Amino acid sequence: MGNILVIDDEREVGTFFQHLLEGKGNKVKLGFSGKDFFQLIQQYKFDLAFIDVKLPDANGLNLLKQLKRSYPSCKAVVMTGYSTIKTAVEAIKHGANDYIEKPFDDIEQLERLIDELLSDGPLSSQDDMYKLAETLGFIVGTNKEMNDLLKLAYKIAKKNVNVLIEGETGTGKEVLAHFIHNASMRYDQPFIGVNCGAVSETLLESELFGHEKGAFTGAVKEKKGIFEIANRGTLFLDEIGEASLATQVKLLRVLETGEYIRVGGETIRKTNTRIIAASHVNLAKAVEEKTFREDLLYRLDVVKLTIPPLRERLEDLPILIDYFLKKLNTPLSFSEDCISQMKQYHWPGNVRELFNVVKRAVTLAEGETEVITLDYLPEKLKIPLHLGQVSNSVRSPKDGVEDLEAYLQEWMNGVLALWRNSDRLDLEHVLSSVKELETKIGRSFVLKMLKETLGNRKEAAERLNITVRTLRYLLKEKGADPKA
Ligand SMILES: Nc1ncnc2c1ncn2[C@@H]1O[C@H](COP(=O)(O)OP(=O)(O)OP(=O)(O)O)[C@@H](O)[C@H]1O
Ligand SMILES: [Mg+2]
Repeated sequence: MGNILVIDDEREVGTFFQHLLEGKGNKVKLGFSGKDFFQLIQQYKFDLAFIDVKLPDANGLNLLKQLKRSYPSCKAVVMTGYSTIKTAVEAIKHGANDYIEKPFDDIEQLERLIDELLSDGPLSSQDDMYKLAETLGFIVGTNKEMNDLLKLAYKIAKKNVNVLIEGETGTGKEVLAHFIHNASMRYDQPFIGVNCGAVSETLLESELFGHEKGAFTGAVKEKKGIFEIANRGTLFLDEIGEASLATQVKLLRVLETGEYIRVGGETIRKTNTRIIAASHVNLAKAVEEKTFREDLLYRLDVVKLTIPPLRERLEDLPILIDYFLKKLNTPLSFSEDCISQMKQYHWPGNVRELFNVVKRAVTLAEGETEVITLDYLPEKLKIPLHLGQVSNSVRSPKDGVEDLEAYLQEWMNGVLALWRNSDRLDLEHVLSSVKELETKIGRSFVLKMLKETLGNRKEAAERLNITVRTLRYLLKEKGADPKA
């Protein structure tokens, strides 16, 4: 039993909830606008709120944010029409416990959701989430971004929406896709992966859509395509960025209509496959470069999950290492020195590379020692690949205005030292430090100008000849993307 708030301008929705919830002994207050919302939350205390994302006088997302700020323990569910699912996913990122689509066609599911939310279910379901992730080999430590990512993935797994996973090579895109499939209602149906970069265009089409007998030379038998086999399951489109433009058109058609035709066939077939696509290239950029269709991207990234590179979540390194040691079934462990050395490295191959380093060290050290020492790490981890190892402060630029000069000086010294002295280095890392430098410079200028304009963003932006949006972006404020 609980106190429940329902905000929706469609009166029938309110009455529907009132009927459903009061029948279960809950107290329900109805509001029909943003104005009602503010009045009601000042007057009463709620355990759960249902908020429509589109209200005549307010944006449901803003109401949600307000609710979470004022009453963090109040659970919230946003209600949306299909066309606004992206907003619903945003809502989850802003702390909504879930979203539901209108019209409600599965009342039982809705009732289950309400029971779960009112009985503090999410805690136990969080345990389930971590257990499932571990079972499937997706290890998450304390890094906040990874935890948020996992939670979002878990929540949307149960929805019938397409998912796009981006991340550098070896960050775990495929493992995450498996996790989503297994956390979804489709877990007992096939999960089929296809690498769009690895097969030729014609083969890919026949793989995906199937073919009729005699459709092309060699098509001696008819063949079911993945859209048919994984009809109620999940199709993992790996390296989607590498699909040819022609294949992209065909994929778009299936995504738009749910219909496809076998190669050489005439019958229109229906499919209900859920798509999880993955890419190590940034598809928004690929759209700009005209190698990827914007309309296809739009269909795919209803939910976008971006896995951060390992170098941005080094606090999770020890947990990953422990997991790999267990997986390798060895009693060996790594010395503290080793771990800190590993934390210095840039990990261009991410978790996959980490696993390889652990495996190599274990193989070499087995029978020789119990604690793996620096000697067992590959050379690439030991030489000063890093500007940071040349000068420590370079690695972690502070945000202050004053230190830009010192930062520049040290950065330059670091690069020059590598330039003069290293016969081996990690150029990728040097280049990424150039990007870091760019960010640092942008931010420093913004901060300095903000000081001069006493915090007036509009004026600061004007004086820097940038938009306020770019200014926010340079300050790394969430949700600010100058290109959006
Ligand atoms: N969070 C994680 N916990 C445990 N192992 C992980 C994790 N992430 C990745 N791995 C391991 O790293 C390896 C690479 O993962 P995966 O194949 O999913 O990466 P990917 O992002 O698909 O890479 P690519 O872009 O090269 O295809 C696998 O062996 C996987 O088990
Ligand atoms: Mg992969």
